[in-house]
Amino acid sequence: MANILVFDSGMGGLSVYREIRQSLPNHNYYYCFDNANFPYGELSEPALIQACVGLVSRMVAQLAIDLVVIACNTASTLALPALRSALSIPVVGVVPAIKPAATLTRNGCIGLLATPGTVARPYTHELIAQFAPGKRVLLKGTTELVIEAEQKLAGKAVDMALLQTVLADWLTGEERPDTLVLGCTHFPLLDSEIQDLMPGCRLVDSGAAVAKRVSHLLASHDMTESVGTPQAHAYCTRLDDEAKKLTAPLQAWGLSTLTEVMG
Ligand code: DGL
Repeated sequence: MANILVFDSGMGGLSVYREIRQSLPNHNYYYCFDNANFPYGELSEPALIQACVGLVSRMVAQLAIDLVVIACNTASTLALPALRSALSIPVVGVVPAIKPAATLTRNGCIGLLATPGTVARPYTHELIAQFAPGKRVLLKGTTELVIEAEQKLAGKAVDMALLQTVLADWLTGEERPDTLVLGCTHFPLLDSEIQDLMPGCRLVDSGAAVAKRVSHLLASHDMTESVGTPQAHAYCTRLDDEAKKLTAPLQAWGLSTLTEVMG
């Protein structure tokens, strides 16, 4: 049984955790979110690298982690090289699903909905140049929808008017994507709301591909599932009143406790 750390700035990584745990239920899972530095999409690049590498390295040592999933596009498109050189275990990242979107689009127009950080990254622009040549890729960076996804998870109603405003030019403009890359792990948490506004548009994310990669890596490192009772716990970097309210929603996702990460 492996100890798997799934990491994000907030609740978005749960969309990836759900996919992994569904295909590999018999491992121990630790879901860690860096709410003290949320939202990552607004952080400077040096601050983001420092926050991620420091925190993930600490968690890996404290919890005897065997494999890390950086369930955050904003962090993965920047900090994977630094994380991989700091850690001696497999590190799986999540990057926008441009490649599958390029094969799925029929009208040649793809929307990339991500954080301001991710849409600005050279890594993202390289992905587009490499995997979607000749396609029109429209970029939209939004922190508002990241916050909306957090609120939905905490049990609040989604502000559909806000969603409509953010997506406006893709709903009525001349160039309308027929394929939308959910390039932030928070956005699959809003997929039904986005789909309601964009019926007929295909939504693509990287969750299933990440689960497949994790499964392959565990097998190649001989970390097979075994009998026993697997554990699943959540950790945050600031256990304030706001975070404490997430205890029950996290339990509903199978994460039995919420604890603050030790210094
Ligand atoms: N969930 C994250 C991502 O996939 C980051 C959201 C944020 O903190 O800005 O990009």
